[in-house]
Amino acid sequence: MKRKYLDKIKKLESAPKKINLFSQKEIEQIEDLYKILPETVFNKKQNVRKKGWLPNYNKELDKIYIEKINEAIGDFKFDTLKSESGEDYYGLYHESFSPLKVHVDSGFKEDDIIYKQIITPLSPIGDTIFFTKRWYGPSTTFTNDPEELNFKPKPGQNERSNKHLGDKEFDKEIHKKYLSHIDINNLKGLEVEYIYPWKIGETLIVDRSHIHCASSRISGKKLGLTTFTKK
Ligand SMILES: [Fe+2]
Repeated sequence: MKRKYLDKIKKLESAPKKINLFSQKEIEQIEDLYKILPETVFNKKQNVRKKGWLPNYNKELDKIYIEKINEAIGDFKFDTLKSESGEDYYGLYHESFSPLKVHVDSGFKEDDIIYKQIITPLSPIGDTIFFTKRWYGPSTTFTNDPEELNFKPKPGQNERSNKHLGDKEFDKEIHKKYLSHIDINNLKGLEVEYIYPWKIGETLIVDRSHIHCASSRISGKKLGLTTFTKK
């Protein structure tokens, strides 16, 4: 994949930033919306339950959500998949029962100007780990498993790659503390840029080109809301 607007994408990049974007009441409304939305399982294999935020279930909250994101990141378009009827999802609720491995959510279209990912934790325990390395190919899961590398993705599915790997051994302390669910050899050449410990009431804004994963710190399950944006 050859990004048409790589320069523009890079110009829009910034360091990860956590902010208090939503009030306690709004966080509660976001949680309540999750309960009433229809189930949309995207990946049984990953042991993740997902629900897309469909518009019109809570119109007032739809409006607030767009306004607040707009306040935080300026003009944007949603890029979080579409529903069966072609509506943009405002975000994706993801309830995971085991920690997500190394990947990037960089999108699938070469003429898109990918922008920020907005993560709002809805459960208190867990971390998201961001590596310094960035990726401008399509959304990819990074693996050193030869069998996994043979996986042929269908449209909309993550590619598989081992091109994240380098020579430098990964930090053993960080591996033990945060990433014991990942083979340390699959982290070779990576360095941690930022560890985000989840906290309800906060929202994390981060570039979509960042390679990242969840930490092994999970207590039963982890629930969060993620919105992918483009310009
Ligand atoms: Fe992700």
